[in-house]
Amino acid sequence: MHPHLFLVHDQPLDSFNTFRIPARARHYLRVTGAEQLDQLRADPELGALPRLVLGGGSNLLFTRDFDGVVLHMSGLGREILGEQDGRVLVRAQAGENWHAFVQYTLEQGLGGLENLSLIPGTVGAAPIQNVGAYGTETKDVFHSLTAYDMDSGEVRVLDAQDCRFAYRDSIFKHEDGRALVVLDVTFALPKDWAPNLRYAELANAARDAGLESPTPRQVGALVEAIRRRKLPDPAEIGNAGSFFKNPVVSAEHCARLLAQFPNLVHHAQPDGTEKLAAGWLIDQCGWKGRSMGAAGVYPKQALVLVNLGGARGEDVVRLARAIQADVEARYGVALEPEPVFI
Ligand code: EPU
Repeated sequence: MHPHLFLVHDQPLDSFNTFRIPARARHYLRVTGAEQLDQLRADPELGALPRLVLGGGSNLLFTRDFDGVVLHMSGLGREILGEQDGRVLVRAQAGENWHAFVQYTLEQGLGGLENLSLIPGTVGAAPIQNVGAYGTETKDVFHSLTAYDMDSGEVRVLDAQDCRFAYRDSIFKHEDGRALVVLDVTFALPKDWAPNLRYAELANAARDAGLESPTPRQVGALVEAIRRRKLPDPAEIGNAGSFFKNPVVSAEHCARLLAQFPNLVHHAQPDGTEKLAAGWLIDQCGWKGRSMGAAGVYPKQALVLVNLGGARGEDVVRLARAIQADVEARYGVALEPEPVFI
């Protein structure tokens, strides 16, 4: 095959997914730029195989081996590009570790990404599911990105509108964006920064720490502390963060549920719908800390499913299905998984 494409055959993927589920890839390629993708596209056999674009592997559930080419986005580098309209533009390559990048911006005195501290994964993955936490989403600080189009072989620049960001969603999760491989991302960070303490939990943490006007770094440290308290460290316990999206229901549905369950956690959305806390629904169904085989529900956050050791993808799927069935029966709400199932 291609002598200058450093393809690995039959590559184990256990250490490339934070759930640490055993799986293998028929072919595996570390991608640092568009050139390798050009070569892959040009190869009649490899170019026709299914592709899986892999970042930090923190939003994936392998239920089988991958019979195609895994593209492991590994480009490194970050730079401050300059100022535009009162914002500082900072670019990072797709393979940069997300949290290290957040730390880098904070060390430069730049605010904007602090609420997204300690999210596992890579820079290139952030726009795919528009990662968000504590009232900030990628789209709020996004400027543009460069993507390689595997269909046309073109390198394209996409702005926020092109990316069609929504809650844990973007063009990259849909048919017309599937051929796009993100190479680098540029963020626009505000020069006149103000903390986003809209989430009560974060505001309370700032108050308890006696921080009246916290700096970006201080807010980042608070977010880190909250996350460490509630979420399992993938280095210690295999997991993929929130396993389900927070479901959005109609105002009527929410009102009906509230009549029956007065403590229901809900947040009104700008369009009049209501977002429910999936973690609360699962918790109320009694799932917190329970397990099925080697797959379990994290005792401190019911929205997080964990690998208790030696879990296979199907163990996690079985647990997820049981949880979905209970939540559906009790609340009439269909929970949608957040990770991508392979
Ligand atoms: N809750 C419970 N029991 C639980 C878990 C949560 O009662 O076991 C209640 C909490 O008390 C709270 C509400 O549910 O009232 C929401 O919980 P939390 O604030 O922990 O946030 P979440 O909705 O569960 C979302 C994101 C997280 C993000 C946090 C903070 C999704 C699917 N998840 O979680 O994102 O870090 O808010 O902004 O939107 C991720 O996507 O992987 C992720 C970790």
